[in-house]
Amino acid sequence: MDRIRVLFDQLDLQQATRINDYTAQVARARARADLWASVAAGCATLLLLAALLLLLREHLRRLRLAQALQEANTGLDREVAARTAELAQANARLARFALEENRAVEAERRRLAREVHDQIGQVFTAIQLICASLPASAFPQGQARGLERALELGIQSTRRITAELRPPLLDDLGLLAALQHLAQQMSAVSGLKAEVDLAQAQRLSAEQALALYRVTQEALTNVQRHAGAQQVRIRGEVVDEAYRYEIADDGVGPGIEPTRPGALGLTGMRERVALLGGRCSIEAGATGGTRVCIVLPLSATSDPDDDHAHPAS
Ligand SMILES: Nc1ncnc2c1ncn2[C@@H]1O[C@H](COP(=O)(O)OP(=O)(O)O)[C@@H](O)[C@H]1O
Ligand SMILES: [Mg+2]
Repeated sequence: MDRIRVLFDQLDLQQATRINDYTAQVARARARADLWASVAAGCATLLLLAALLLLLREHLRRLRLAQALQEANTGLDREVAARTAELAQANARLARFALEENRAVEAERRRLAREVHDQIGQVFTAIQLICASLPASAFPQGQARGLERALELGIQSTRRITAELRPPLLDDLGLLAALQHLAQQMSAVSGLKAEVDLAQAQRLSAEQALALYRVTQEALTNVQRHAGAQQVRIRGEVVDEAYRYEIADDGVGPGIEPTRPGALGLTGMRERVALLGGRCSIEAGATGGTRVCIVLPLSATSDPDDDHAHPAS
């Protein structure tokens, strides 16, 4: 019995020792696990901090880039604004220069027209008068008629050149009379019917009247050359402090015929009108044909002291 008890005691002891060993092992394993957990947590925190730092750095870098971009944009905007202003000034200078050029050309044309009329025209007329006063015997046989024809041709050429240089009637009788004369001449040559209907043309300055006359010359030449029209209508009226002017034909319309390379007529019209602050467009008419439409501001370029705007009646 005692032996059995001793055996049991030994077994108990062994059991207790084993339990203690297990407990110690479990405690060590737990301590290791805790340690690893702490290490892992520490590493995670460090990684998190590093990630946050990287994010912050990236954010700051982006902020700096955005700021630099903003500054570059502002600088670019300023540069563009400065260049645009310079370009606008250069354009304004060019427009003034072109206007002055135009005025100089017209003044020179007027001077030449006067010279041709006063000098050459009068010389022809004087010779004609002298010839008329001489008896037929003063001329070699059969030459009198030839001389008469040559003088008549000279006088006609002088008139034609004078009229081309300076619109006849424009200075003395105004735009309406000058246009009616132009339309009559065109009708006589081409057989085209022409109608001129202008209201309040005296509101136009001399420069505007001359511009409309020159544009009409080119437009009527175009009608004869390209339109195949039967009729042309020229109209003008004051609408909202602007002069609205139109040359409309009943021909084939614009854009049918290919534009001749180097054609400058329409461009010249637009530029002439733009120089006076107006607009010129060439469009198809509502019922066919071509319309040249012009709008000229009345107040901006009208010169009330300009006596060409109010020709003697
Ligand atoms: N009244 C019109 N009817 C039809 N086409 C026209 C008319 N006016 C102008 N055009 C067209 O516009 C083109 C350009 O005209 P323009 O600049 O005056 O040059 P150009 O008369 O020397 O050909 C013409 O070649 C023609 O095709
Ligand atoms: Mg032309």
